[in-house]
Amino acid sequence: MAAHLPLIFKILLSFCYGASSFDQVSFLQCFSLHSLQSNSTSLTITTRNDPTYISLLQSSIQNLRFLNTSSPSPQLIVTPVHPFQIQAAIVCSQKHGVHVRVRSGGHDYEGLSYVSQIPFIIIDLRNMRSVEVDVEKECAWVESGATLGELYYGISQKSKFLGFPAGSCPTVGVGGHVSGGGFGTIFRKYGLAADNVIDAKIVDVNGKILDRKAMGEDIFWAIRGGGGASFGVIFSWKIKLLPVPPTVTVFEVDKTIEENATMLLYKWQNVAHRLHEDLFLHAVIGVVTPSSTSANKTISISFGGLYLGKIERLLPLIRETFPELGLTRESCTEMSWIQSVLYFAGFSQDGSPGVLLNRTQSSKSFFKAKSDYVTKPISETGLEGLWNKLIEDEASYLILTPYGGVMSQIPDSETPFPHRRGNMYQIQYMVTWASEEESNQHINWMRGLYDYMAPYVSSFPRAAYMNYRDLDLGRNYIVNTTYAQASVWGLKYFKSNFRRLVKVKTASDPTNFFWNEQSFPVLSPRR
Ligand SMILES: Cc1cc2nc3c(=O)[nH]c(=O)nc-3n(C[C@H](O)[C@H](O)[C@H](O)COP(=O)(O)OP(=O)(O)OC[C@H]3O[C@@H](n4cnc5c(N)ncnc54)[C@H](O)[C@@H]3O)c2cc1C
Ligand SMILES: *[C@@H]1O[C@H](CO)[C@@H](O)[C@H](O)[C@H]1NC(C)=O
Ligand SMILES: *[C@@H]1O[C@H](CO)[C@@H](O)[C@H](O)[C@H]1NC(C)=O
Ligand SMILES: *[C@@H]1O[C@H](CO)[C@@H](O)[C@H](O)[C@H]1NC(C)=O
Ligand SMILES: *[C@@H]1O[C@H](CO)[C@@H](O)[C@H](O)[C@H]1NC(C)=O
Ligand SMILES: *[C@@H]1O[C@H](CO)[C@@H](O)[C@H](O)[C@H]1NC(C)=O
Ligand SMILES: *[C@@H]1O[C@H](CO)[C@@H](O)[C@H](O)[C@H]1NC(C)=O
Repeated sequence: MAAHLPLIFKILLSFCYGASSFDQVSFLQCFSLHSLQSNSTSLTITTRNDPTYISLLQSSIQNLRFLNTSSPSPQLIVTPVHPFQIQAAIVCSQKHGVHVRVRSGGHDYEGLSYVSQIPFIIIDLRNMRSVEVDVEKECAWVESGATLGELYYGISQKSKFLGFPAGSCPTVGVGGHVSGGGFGTIFRKYGLAADNVIDAKIVDVNGKILDRKAMGEDIFWAIRGGGGASFGVIFSWKIKLLPVPPTVTVFEVDKTIEENATMLLYKWQNVAHRLHEDLFLHAVIGVVTPSSTSANKTISISFGGLYLGKIERLLPLIRETFPELGLTRESCTEMSWIQSVLYFAGFSQDGSPGVLLNRTQSSKSFFKAKSDYVTKPISETGLEGLWNKLIEDEASYLILTPYGGVMSQIPDSETPFPHRRGNMYQIQYMVTWASEEESNQHINWMRGLYDYMAPYVSSFPRAAYMNYRDLDLGRNYIVNTTYAQASVWGLKYFKSNFRRLVKVKTASDPTNFFWNEQSFPVLSPRR
């Protein structure tokens, strides 16, 4: 009878009636049978008995909330070096009733790439991270297991005049980042990482390798912003590289509320999204204690950014559009584009770009984050209330990222990422802490902050960025998630693209093998 049930029911049954039923020996036999064309299994599979299992599992966990001992751990970890081994892992997982989580850089905010409540294995793509740059054709093939740092480094070794519009944190994985959108300091000029994908290779639920032509335009559309995890394992991306000038300028101006930062931010809201697309001016807001003699905390706003050009052209641009900022030549530094990548990654711009190859994040912490989109300016009173909230938890900060530029010209349905015209800026709320006992306190505080912000941000739906994943927005049941239930989180991330994403999911993975807490539901399960 079980043979007639969709796979996911079988997985659930095997969970309920004994998780230990996973037959590791048979899995390993299956795996080596299906990956004959590639090399030794022992190098690509790490089981719970292996001494390296714990360090392999934990090495790319970025959020310490999911590093605790009560987190469910995978039956084994596959670290493929070749797509054949991904195919084998998919086929054998289905045969042996385990579920799969795919991990590239491990930065998922809710740990979905390495934690699951049902028995699972991890396919960790760390060993598939080649970056092949074609300077003449201005494109590159980059494997999903590469980090953004490895990508930027690879480009810089081949050309000083080409760049790529993706995020600032160099340890973020290409696999999760590109499939979920991906923005950085030049996205107002060039759009998201996902907007600049021209081909991709995926292993689908049947274990088949498909390129753009073979997967078809629906799947190719869905994996450029809808998240990869619902559709298969995307192991390689062909991306368009884009021109960057030989000299760019970075700048920063810091103000506290005593120095009129509130008024400046109020003004910034109207200015930043209208600036020339060569100019990116974000605001990072945090709590500071100005001096050791003063016990009073205050809010400091760092207005910083990147201009794709020289200081002499930046200064008049700012003077014309945002004179109140008081930007001076001293606050600006000219450098190459790859140096600006180092700068925004927190490294010295004068150091070697080789530091971008380091896959270990410098400081890991416990964190909880959320996101919002702002479509009309927040009043100064609203901002002052926000400062009061932030001061309640001094380990918090906000990053306000201006939209506009080319982001307003790309239609909402071009890719699954719908946050385009009409958005002034995005807010990321972040709170970090250092020990597990503090978790509840900070998470509850974050939820309170989110409630406070409701009147000031987008509504119906209250939009959110999928790559800042937040399970508070809603989560799927294991077997019975309905369209209506999933649309609670789905409409926030994807607005009117949600329906098409569910259709693509239903057609490409009818048994819902690629399930997670925020994967797309399958409309009518095959019986
Ligand atoms: C410190 C930090 C800084 C960040 N900065 C930025 C930023 O500047 N801009 C921005 O846009 N975002 C940023 N992010 C968010 C980041 O883009 C997302 O967390 C992204 O999903 C991480 O990708 P990953 O491969 O590292 O994560 P993972 O945890 O490996 O994966 C994330 C999700 O994608 C799935 N997935 C991963 N690889 C694949 C694959 N090959 N095929 C199919 N599915 C896959 C996973 O299963 C999981 O569901 C940042 C995150 C952190 C922690
Ligand atoms: C297998 O290993 C050999 C020797 O190390 C290598 O030359 C070959 O490319 C490998 N094959 C695959 C498919 O990885
Ligand atoms: C431990 O990790 C799990 C997820 O793996 C999480 O749900 C739980 O809240 C964590 N426990 C603590 C105390 O943080
Ligand atoms: C703040 O703004 C007020 C009124 O515009 C002005 O008088 C004052 O000098 C400003 N303070 C600072 C520190 O810039
Ligand atoms: C701190 O704040 C209190 C109350 O607002 C105020 O009376 C006091 O002068 C402030 N102290 C300093 C050093 O700014
Ligand atoms: C990589 O970065 C980590 C964290 O900052 C650091 O501890 C380590 O020494 C670095 N590794 C190398 C080879 O530089
Ligand atoms: C789905 O299942 C969960 C438990 O797995 C249950 O709490 C929930 O009520 C179910 N929902 C529906 C619509 O059946």
